[in-house]
Parts: sequence; C-alpha cells; structure tokens
Amino acid sequence: MTRTDPADVPRPDALLHLGVFFQGVNHWTIWSDPSSGSQIDPASFLRVARTAERGLFDAFFLGDGLRLRESEGGVHELDVAGRPDSITQLSALAAATERIGLVSTSNTTFNEPGDLARRLAGLDLLSGGRAGWNVVTTHNAWTGENFRRGGFLDHADRYRRAEEFLSVARAVWDGWAEGVVAGSVDARSWAVPGGVGRVRSKGAHFDVDLVPTLPRSAQGHPVIFQAGDSGEGRDFAARQADVVFSAHGTDFDDALAFAEDIRRRLRAAGRAEDALRILPGTEIVIGATEKEAEEKERWVRLEQVTPAVALGIASRLWGLDLSGRDADGPLPTEDPVVAAYDGKFGTRQLGETRETVAEWRAKAEANGWSLRETVIELGPQRGHVGTPAGLAEKFARFVRHGALDGFNVSPYLVPDGLDDIVELLVPELQERGVYRTAYTGTTLREHLGLAPVG
Ligand SMILES: Cc1cc2nc3c(=O)[nH]c(=O)nc-3n(C[C@H](O)[C@H](O)[C@H](O)COP(=O)(O)O)c2cc1C
Repeated sequence: MTRTDPADVPRPDALLHLGVFFQGVNHWTIWSDPSSGSQIDPASFLRVARTAERGLFDAFFLGDGLRLRESEGGVHELDVAGRPDSITQLSALAAATERIGLVSTSNTTFNEPGDLARRLAGLDLLSGGRAGWNVVTTHNAWTGENFRRGGFLDHADRYRRAEEFLSVARAVWDGWAEGVVAGSVDARSWAVPGGVGRVRSKGAHFDVDLVPTLPRSAQGHPVIFQAGDSGEGRDFAARQADVVFSAHGTDFDDALAFAEDIRRRLRAAGRAEDALRILPGTEIVIGATEKEAEEKERWVRLEQVTPAVALGIASRLWGLDLSGRDADGPLPTEDPVVAAYDGKFGTRQLGETRETVAEWRAKAEANGWSLRETVIELGPQRGHVGTPAGLAEKFARFVRHGALDGFNVSPYLVPDGLDDIVELLVPELQERGVYRTAYTGTTLREHLGLAPVG
C-alpha cells in the first residue's frame, strides 16, 4: 500500500468529512431494481440517516424544490417526488438520530426570513444543535408561478436578496440574550428584563419588525451551506457560508482549481482560508477489485440511464420532444432548437447546445454508439469508482492537498446504498488517519471543525 508522505502535502492532518445527499427527487437514485426500496417512505430516510450516523458522517442533507419540474406540459419525466418538505422530514429524523447533522435546502427567493429563520431555529433546537441550511436562490419562473410572482428577480438581485435574507435570519437567531428565561418562581416575568430583543430591518427586499420567539441552539446558529456555482454564488459563499456544496469533486485538478478560487474569494472577503468547508456532491461505486467496480458502475449507469431517461436527457439538449424515438438507435439528425431563455425548466444557451450536440455526434460516430450509449458516456457524470483501498488513497490525496474537505455522497440505491461505504470505505479511510474514529462533538458545527458562532 502506498501512503501519502505527510511531509509532501500541505494539509497532512486534514480529515475527510462525509455527508449523505438523499436525492429522492431525481432519477439518479435507481428505482426500478428489485433491491431498490421506496424513495419516499419515511423508513427509507431513517435507514439511510442511521447508516450514515453509524459511519460517523457529518450530515444528512436534503435537496428541495418548491414545485415539480414540468416538461411538455406534464411532470418532468426524470423526476420522482413525494416526500414532506425538508424541515419537516429532518425534524422527524432529529428524534430518531443522536449525532448526525441535518441539513435542509431552503430557498431565499420565495420564503420570508422571519418565518424561515424561526423554522430552522426550531430544527436546530429540537436536534440539539445539528441543523444546517443549504441556502439556494432558485428563481425560475416555473417555481415562481407557485407564488404568483413568476421569475421576479434577475440573477444578481437573487443574491442581494439572499444576503439581506441571511442578515435578518442571523438577527432573529441572536434575538434572545444568554440565560433569558428567569429561573425563579419569584420572578415577575418568565423572561429576564430586556432579555428578548427586537429585530428591525428595512432594506431593498425586506421590511421587518419582529420579536424572535426562540433562544440560540447548542451551536448558536444553523450551519450555512451554499450551492450556487456562478461567480456571484461563489462570492456569496465566501462572504456568508460555512460549507460549499459544489459540483467539482471528480477530477483532482478541477477540484483544486475550484478550492483555490474559493480561497481567493475568502481572502477578498476578509475571512480565513479555513473558515469554510468544501463538500462536492458525488456518487461512489465500490467493488472488491477494479474490474468488479467497473462492472458495477456499468450496471449503475444502465439502471440510471434507462431508454426513457436517455430520451429525456436528449430531449432537453435538443429542445425537441424525442420521447417517441428509439434510444438504442442513432442520434437525432435534426439541429437543436433553443428558444431564448424564458425561465422555463430546461431552456439553454444556443451556442452551448450546438457545441455539445456536435461533440456527441462526432464521438457517437467514431465509437458506433447508440443514443443511449452516448448519454451514458457523455451525459452528466457521477463520481468515483474503485476498490475501498484505492478510493481511500485517492480521497486522502484530495483532502491533504486542499482540493476539497470531503463529499456529499448521493447513494445510487436507497435504502442500503451507503452500506458498503460505511462498512468497506470508512475503515480504509480510518486506517490512513484521514477519517474520525468517533464523533468528538455533538453539534454539526463541531463535526465540521468550524469556529463557534461569535
Ligand atoms: C450542487 C448543487 C445543488 C443544488 N441543489 C439545489 C436544490 O436542492 N434545490 C434548489 O432549489 N436549488 C438547488 N441548486 C441551485 C442553486 O441554488 C442555484 O439556484 C443555481 O445553481 C443558480 O445559481 P448559480 O447561477 O449561482 O449557480 C443547487 C446547485 C448546486 C450547484
């Protein structure tokens, strides 16, 4: 076994952090195999959360959307939905787990800060300081139609609103002084005088005058995650977030470039380079040998990219309804059709689409690939494949070189898709000294090694 020489690396003592990203609203979770359980049964959530906790994961993470995606007038073919909203779901898990962090994806464009901050504080209190908030700004017109607003903010304004949203939320979380509840039966009020503050905030997006209803939690505030990848999104993360949930965790050079970019933005924002953790989303496929892992990966890809899914992905790329085509036949001969961006799901830039279609055509022709095979080979890629030892070695290199701080793992099977990670990969990571052997704290902030809230 080769080990990374501690002297050669910038962060020899860095630890890998793992979260689980329970998708449930995405076809990447295989649902058509006999070993697949329900993605919406509360028992599945519980099973995954407990497995992750057994594997000493930092967090159980839920993405969320406020509306099902639609395509061609129906529910988008690639979505599977049907679970409670994330704060409600995580509150149930808080009662059934002990240590693992519980992260809710909640939207700043369509929520109101006084209300959402209170609900997140509730989760943080119920869980003993284990709550996190993945701040998303998703604005699309089709989501906005739920609220009669449509896509009412442009990109930059969404981040300005998110920034103002967070500043109100932080004031709400700090509203009660330490020890505010009077301890004596002789006291004239349940609260010590002046202990409950007032939040008054008037800005471009919010005009708030409220009295917070909750004390701080064991970790002060929920941990702030951020998942936007644009320049504005990255700057927002550098100013405001504790964790970035990125999409840059497969290729080492790409991950390192992203991490360096975030560190540069942190310095520009006047924050320390280690004030933020970078946890890209990934899928991890494990086999006893490299060959077995590759075979398993092939099975996973075939299950994920069914003929219908392949046609759905191609329809989005081409801007055409290709649902009646043969996925095992050749690529469509038509040119892609791309309307100007109108906020509808799936609308894309024409230049980008033409380039992608040209690349797909060239590679499909050179390799004799069908449409489905082309989507498998060139469509969205999912992550890491290997043996437990090989993956542990690879991840130790990523983390010790500062390319990332860990992964938010999407299990491709529910509910037992984390089992081999916990049983086979975690011990290999522990053996290399790159993963905890026990929880050392009780709060999510402590698991992530973040400084206490001031
Ligand atoms: C890894 C990742 C995960 C995301 N998860 C969600 C989600 O669960 N729900 C949601 O509404 N938006 C989600 N988003 C969308 C972002 O919040 C944001 O709206 C979108 O990326 C556009 O912002 P940007 O241009 O800064 O990237 C996610 C984005 C990324 C990169």
